[in-house]
Amino acid sequence: MPVSYDGSREAPAAPPARSAEGPPMPDPRSIRRIAINTGGGDAPGLNAVIRAVVLSACRIGWEVYGIRRSYDGLFEADGVTQLVPARVQGITHVGGTILGTTNQGNPFKYPVTGPDGKTRLVDRSAEILTTLRDRRVDALVAIGGDGSLSIAYELFLRGLPVIGVPKTIDNDLDATVLTFGFDTAVQTATEAIDKLQSTAEAHRRVMVVEVMGRYAGWIALHSGLAAAADIILLPEIPFKIDKVIEKIREREEHGQPYAIVVAAEGARPYGGDFVTRGGSELGREIRLGGIADLVARQIEQLTGKETRSLVLGHLQRGGNPTTFDRLMALRFGAAAVRYLRRGAYGRMVALRPPDVLTVPLRQAISQRKLVPMDSDTILTARSLGTCLGD
Ligand code: F6P
Repeated sequence: MPVSYDGSREAPAAPPARSAEGPPMPDPRSIRRIAINTGGGDAPGLNAVIRAVVLSACRIGWEVYGIRRSYDGLFEADGVTQLVPARVQGITHVGGTILGTTNQGNPFKYPVTGPDGKTRLVDRSAEILTTLRDRRVDALVAIGGDGSLSIAYELFLRGLPVIGVPKTIDNDLDATVLTFGFDTAVQTATEAIDKLQSTAEAHRRVMVVEVMGRYAGWIALHSGLAAAADIILLPEIPFKIDKVIEKIREREEHGQPYAIVVAAEGARPYGGDFVTRGGSELGREIRLGGIADLVARQIEQLTGKETRSLVLGHLQRGGNPTTFDRLMALRFGAAAVRYLRRGAYGRMVALRPPDVLTVPLRQAISQRKLVPMDSDTILTARSLGTCLGD
């Protein structure tokens, strides 16, 4: 296997990475035109993937079409646009996505408002497949998190040649060691927590900061550790408030009358439930949020210490991708085209350092990647005396 200067290996050229599952698929040698879309919440690095896909595909003579706002563009007259190299110039470092995105556009459960004014969920997947066929699209590069990749997998099962690219700041996708966007989100959260240290100390306050991550604690754990938080609350470890209070008192006894608590939005008290901001009406995902405020109020009540809470929210999704995320996104995009060329349909590119491989989409979406309790990062937090609420 050839090894490049950075130690990564090109995946073997033969046998072709054909998919064993799904309906019969066209020969990859017949690919002339591909489509690309970005679905779900945006993540820094999306534009870098788009650029890598467009440049790699155009170099081998393929045409690339971008679908706007996940699959929504396929329902609109001007929702699909040709992407030539000049269109993707200067976007590697830019956050967001030039194609736009949505986390409400599931074509299998598409909200349609009828003449009675009521909105119902309708399966519009057949329209999508027909439109792609009419536009002579031979394969789709679907960039997304678990929701978008589940849609891509369903389309694959209905005959669309698809390859997935894993994206989410939450880093909760199984089968890839990392997703792009995560490093940038952690960087943003770390810088914010760093800034809280001085104001917490100046006012002798407890600051509780809520970070994203849905049901996984990756952002909280990595940013919390890097910014030397005293207490980190993760969805994976239901917390006992007594333990949090114990840590704050212990700090007081050691002459540190302030503390920083990082709470993942999916953190919850032992025996309690997630704190949410909205229901899952019309197929939308439940919005998590509010745990920092809850914890702050409890701390203030139980210790009498002045406590403030804040939610970092969508700041974590914005801004330019870090160098690490740019590079991973470019590698994923280029790999998606290389693997498509070999017929790796129904699969997802995945980072298995030092390589970028493909894994079946089915495997990638089958379970959420949570922080393992025996991971070195958890052990590091425990060794440093960081309170994890247990
Ligand atoms: O999955 C990415 C994510 O940013 C989560 O961390 C967060 O819970 C959710 O999306 C927020 O979604 P929305 O953009 O709908 O508020």
